[in-house]
Amino acid sequence: MAKHHLDPQYLDPNYEPVVNRSGNTPFGDILAARMQRRTIMKGSVGAALAGLMGAGLAGCGSDDDDDRASSSGVASTELGFKAVPVSTENRVVVPEGYSAVAFLPWGTPITGAYPEYRPDGTNSGEDQEQQVGMHHDGMHFFPIDLKAGGNSSSEGLLVVNHEYINQNALHATGPSYVNGLRPADEVRKEIAAHGVSVVHIKRDSAGVWDLVHGSPFNRRITGNTEMDIRGPLRGYHKLVTKFSPDATETRGTLNNCSMGPTPWGTYLAAEENWHGYFANKGASQPREQVRHGVGSESRYDWELADSGADAYVRFDITPGSGSAADDYRNEANTYGFMVEIDPFNPQSKPQKRTALGRFGHEGVIFAPVREGEPVVCYSGDDSRFEYIYKFVSSQPYYAATAGGYLLDEGTLYVARFNDDGSGDWLPLDLEDPGFAAKVQAAMGTTVGDIVFEGFENQADVLLNTRLAADIAGATPMDRPEWGAIDPNTGEVYFTLTNNSQRTEDQVNAANPVANNQTGHIIRWQEAGNDHAASGFQWDIFVFAGTQGTETVVDGEAVVTLDDDNIFNSPDGLWFDYNGRLWIQTDGSDDAPYQNNMMLAANPETREIKRFFVGPTGCEVTGVVSTPDVRTLFVNIQHPAGNWPDASDPRPRDATVIVTRDDGGIIGA
Ligand code: FEO
Ligand code: CA
Ligand code: CA
Repeated sequence: MAKHHLDPQYLDPNYEPVVNRSGNTPFGDILAARMQRRTIMKGSVGAALAGLMGAGLAGCGSDDDDDRASSSGVASTELGFKAVPVSTENRVVVPEGYSAVAFLPWGTPITGAYPEYRPDGTNSGEDQEQQVGMHHDGMHFFPIDLKAGGNSSSEGLLVVNHEYINQNALHATGPSYVNGLRPADEVRKEIAAHGVSVVHIKRDSAGVWDLVHGSPFNRRITGNTEMDIRGPLRGYHKLVTKFSPDATETRGTLNNCSMGPTPWGTYLAAEENWHGYFANKGASQPREQVRHGVGSESRYDWELADSGADAYVRFDITPGSGSAADDYRNEANTYGFMVEIDPFNPQSKPQKRTALGRFGHEGVIFAPVREGEPVVCYSGDDSRFEYIYKFVSSQPYYAATAGGYLLDEGTLYVARFNDDGSGDWLPLDLEDPGFAAKVQAAMGTTVGDIVFEGFENQADVLLNTRLAADIAGATPMDRPEWGAIDPNTGEVYFTLTNNSQRTEDQVNAANPVANNQTGHIIRWQEAGNDHAASGFQWDIFVFAGTQGTETVVDGEAVVTLDDDNIFNSPDGLWFDYNGRLWIQTDGSDDAPYQNNMMLAANPETREIKRFFVGPTGCEVTGVVSTPDVRTLFVNIQHPAGNWPDASDPRPRDATVIVTRDDGGIIGA
């Protein structure tokens, strides 16, 4: 098991209750030839993929100048560095010829009065609202000249999610209670340490990155920032609260895990384990809470703030005796979304894009856009036995007019991975005759723990996305985390981090390992390489595990893990702009894996090499580079010791800047 006890607040994965009891095993007749830790990739699929990849990667062999794209216009994806060994050191390890330096640690002042970070933990809630939050996760670098068509690699907006907090490190002496209540400023500080930071950063002529002090772009978005509800759930009565009786607004975004940059230069922050922030002490729970594991106690007891302020009381979602507009019974229904933030407009109000569904969003990945075609994006629901989704916009994309409105109308699909290597996208749309028939057939039956009594309308479908996906017959996965799209082939990759609760009779071809403790990475190609297609062909890119773990295709081991690349629990996943795949881990840091790490993979050959190892007790999550791929940003979350500053007793989550000493392309 991961040493998650190193951080007492670390609640993943044990904090993610198994709440899918729908028993979707549509493909229970599993491949007879399936072998532990091995997959069979159908020959026809392999041939199809080879055909598609052949054209795109033709230039990969000739890379004597590895810093440039080949003559075919496709950059090399070969791995030119020497793999680093596993490590138990309380520092970041990178390959020979590379340097790593911590940047923007928790508590760094970025806006307002720029209150200094105090290592004794005495910064106030108001201070924290002007400082970088805790537990860095997904992030993106927006070139400062992006809106003018530029591609700066020396100045930009670094946008960073802050997934959750370590209360013991946040406060001088940890969280406190007086007569059963929590001091309101502690709660204010905890809420402010969540959310998103937008930081204007710039590299000087010596190559050193710093934040731009006083920049109008610097901004904190927290668990209390006002936001709009957009899309089909806007105005729906099940989102009515005392704060927003017309169900058009809410406050805050929480547990922002991964993210996705949109094709129009904004940032979508995911709301993952939001369910744990709410307490429902009522006699029963509505299905939109049951299917997510909302409990009678909240993670940090914010509803117990001694000020009694509405901003904190709202985390108590127990129904009162009046109407929904008199209390916060529906507050949790305003969470579980992808939240759009425009980093270039500091006055903009974040927008919760409900058409993308409500679940434990790990992140989102957009397919390349084409003029006049729909916008397509993918999102995983990270909990055991949950699903992978795809959104296809109703309106076509045009670069000149593209914006968040494209995400407000469209079709949400969920993935079914068939055992023969094919896959289907199942629409969660009451206007689809197939889905409507399944909904009719499910009426009155028990779906998991829920007696199904129908959906009021499409808004109700989206509010209960998981339930809708159960009914559609989606394939329960081994905790879908990040997705990434190969810029050279269009293939979509997803990490399936682990699932120790999958039993032998619950395996399927896409999740073929019972008691899957180390995870795998799946990938697919949409039919006709059209991301809006209704079907796809999939295979497993690699199984994680110890030395000797094989990934077998057509009887041949295409990957055999060794000292250079053993890893477990893949989580963060990102294709850089040349097409190298970066894999980050959040798993066991016992032997043989030791500290969590980041590896690079060549998607063409499946060669994998360990590139980076984090400090003690951390998870490595969040990676992006400048457009030239010469500065790499990597986040360290929940370090356990006094990293990165040995003189500071508090661990501080931080971004790590990795560069090559010769200024070359990272990974080449
Ligand atoms: Fe926040 Fe699924 O990791
Ligand atoms: Ca994650
Ligand atoms: Ca994880």
